[in-house]
Amino acid sequence: MREEVFLERLGQHGAAVQALLGELLSGDARHSETIRPERLLGAMRHGVLNGGKRMRPALVIESAALFGGDAAAALRVAAALECVHCYSLIHDDLPAMDDDDLRRGQPTVHRKFDEATAILAGDSLLTYAFDIVAAPETALPDATKIALVLALSRASGIGGMAGGQALDLEAETRELAEDEITRLQAMKTGALIRFACEAGALAAGASDADRRRMLRFGEIVGLAFQLQDDLLDLTADSATLGKAAGKDAARGKKTLPSIHGVQWTQHRLAGLIEEATALLSPYGERANMLIALASYVATRKN
Ligand code: IPE
Ligand code: IPE
Ligand code: MG
Ligand code: MG
Ligand code: MG
Repeated sequence: MREEVFLERLGQHGAAVQALLGELLSGDARHSETIRPERLLGAMRHGVLNGGKRMRPALVIESAALFGGDAAAALRVAAALECVHCYSLIHDDLPAMDDDDLRRGQPTVHRKFDEATAILAGDSLLTYAFDIVAAPETALPDATKIALVLALSRASGIGGMAGGQALDLEAETRELAEDEITRLQAMKTGALIRFACEAGALAAGASDADRRRMLRFGEIVGLAFQLQDDLLDLTADSATLGKAAGKDAARGKKTLPSIHGVQWTQHRLAGLIEEATALLSPYGERANMLIALASYVATRKN
């Protein structure tokens, strides 16, 4: 796929998810809500609406499209996942975790607001994700919504992202073996990316075989994503990244790029793109955008 075509389509998905998130995070209280406190809402909006590559939403939207899923429903699932992702970033940046001041080129939520508000903004975003999937506006069969809520819960919680974050913190005080690093990464970042690819297939009512294929595709993309994140942490500067660089080494955290070097990492990334491409080859040209997304994840500069 030509790069301009890819970037245009990625931009369209980003704009669609931005518009929906803006609406979802409006000041109007929904049915059964009392009010939406202004400062908390401001912090949530800052954490969600201020930039971001929106790569996970694009994976959801494209995975659903591959199996003929309803685009509006997929967009809502994509927005829900982005809420979980943004919550994870807000908490990841807190002083008790990575203690970062910069995110997406802007002050982190606890710097712009305060720590307590940042914690609550994260809590509210995580909860809101399940609200968005379950809400009547999401035009999917109830059984599909339940399956999505279950899969998103498992991807986000103790056996997924949050569990991975706990293991990641452990890596600051104890040197992990390589397979432990790979496993923690499959959890802290891999789980949500895997969910993104599975969710599209689920929302579209794809067959079990297709769903499993998309899960595996998501695992490969997740691996590539974190390898590139760690490589950029090692080699890029903060201005380009829009977040602090060199943090892993500063915190004594070993990553695969820091152990094996830049060349090894690039080689491994190329291998993962090949694997992802081969996996989707049965779908022919219809999977081109997903393949381009996998390659974008592995070669992005920020
Ligand atoms: C960064 O994720 C945090 C990790 C999970 C390693 P992204 O690179 O997708 O961040 P945004 O959403 O584009 O800012
Ligand atoms: C964060 O990993 C992963 C999650 C937020 C779940 P990092 O700590 O490496 O992410 P950055 O580098 O701060 O974006
Ligand atoms: Mg972290
Ligand atoms: Mg961090
Ligand atoms: Mg990082």
